[in-house]
Amino acid sequence: MHLSARVIMATGISLVLGLASCGGSAQSGKGRQDSGLSGSGLAAPQPGLKDYYKDYFPVGVAVNSRNIKGPEAALILKEYNSVTPENDMKMGPVHPAADQYNFAPVDSIVAFARRHGLKVRGHNLCWHEQTPDWLFKDAGGGEVAKSVLLSRLRDHIRTVVSRYKKDVYCWDVVNEAISDDSTELLRKSPWLKIIGPSFIDSAFWYAHRADPKAELYYNDYNVVFPEKAKRIYTLLKGLKQRGVPITGIGIQAHWSVYQPTEQQLRSTLDLFKSLGLKIQITELDVSVFPWEKNKRALLPKDQIRYQGQVEDRQTAFYKMIFKVFRDYKGVISGVTFWNVSDRDTWLNYYPVEGRKNYPLLFDSALKRKPAYQAVTDFKGAGATAP
Ligand code: GLA
Repeated sequence: MHLSARVIMATGISLVLGLASCGGSAQSGKGRQDSGLSGSGLAAPQPGLKDYYKDYFPVGVAVNSRNIKGPEAALILKEYNSVTPENDMKMGPVHPAADQYNFAPVDSIVAFARRHGLKVRGHNLCWHEQTPDWLFKDAGGGEVAKSVLLSRLRDHIRTVVSRYKKDVYCWDVVNEAISDDSTELLRKSPWLKIIGPSFIDSAFWYAHRADPKAELYYNDYNVVFPEKAKRIYTLLKGLKQRGVPITGIGIQAHWSVYQPTEQQLRSTLDLFKSLGLKIQITELDVSVFPWEKNKRALLPKDQIRYQGQVEDRQTAFYKMIFKVFRDYKGVISGVTFWNVSDRDTWLNYYPVEGRKNYPLLFDSALKRKPAYQAVTDFKGAGATAP
């Protein structure tokens, strides 16, 4: 669908939903801004993120089936031109029993994307988490044989990729296979234990055979740490040398206002660019807390307000990373945020259940934060927006 038609549709949705205008514009002042969804019906529609970044890369968001209705749906259509199903395509949710697929939730997201002309990123085909119980077991409950696990992986990938071939333009084929332990390359997952390192090559080949036109990504976290980046580089270089059909690297980008530095970010992008790979930022959020991996209980120090230095620091961080993303135009082929707004981010539950976090560009009332203005305020931004 043509861009302007989509904007008109988004504006129409906002009128139907009766979203009130809060005044303000995307271009003016600090503080919360109008969602950009209301409009008088006569004024030119305000651009959204996808319009500001039209000449750079698609801007996407991870969604679940609740997000594609009501005010969040209106926000998605206003701001983004790509969606990633947050959980519904993962092996556990989509393939709960060996002979049973649960396609309905994904179908609804894909239908929403198709209706509104949004791109769809597929996420993901092979991961060690959110796997179904049956996957690694044989009929007697013991460990499944290598040949059986490989054929399960092949059938799963073939079924899911073929089904969404017309709608999904790229896939995170393998997620998080690199170990966090610097003394080893690959994570000790059941995939590695049962199949060996070749499970990665196989997953890419199965995906490629199911849809030769799809872009295929390896996706991981903590990619900006030089030590982990080096090991990911080793893996991806090997894939390229063996002729495995990989398009690029997905940098998850679950970052915080404390990391990465601009230098770290640029070095990481240079490293993967040097392999001739495309780079997507696949799961962007910027926690206001330092990064922690392990779950723990809520403490009094966790109750902070999003204001003053906290807000300023996040705003400056967002400004920095998007400047870098723009500098890598042509190399970065997509930027996707992980969740729609601070209202419902996974970081409100992880790693500390109940710790309110503020990692996105929209606050809990779905209003644009100052960080939004910081990423859209650049020369040429929105110049060609409808
Ligand atoms: C990883 C996965 C995502 C998601 C996030 C947490 O980054 O790739 O699918 O589960 O963790 O929400």
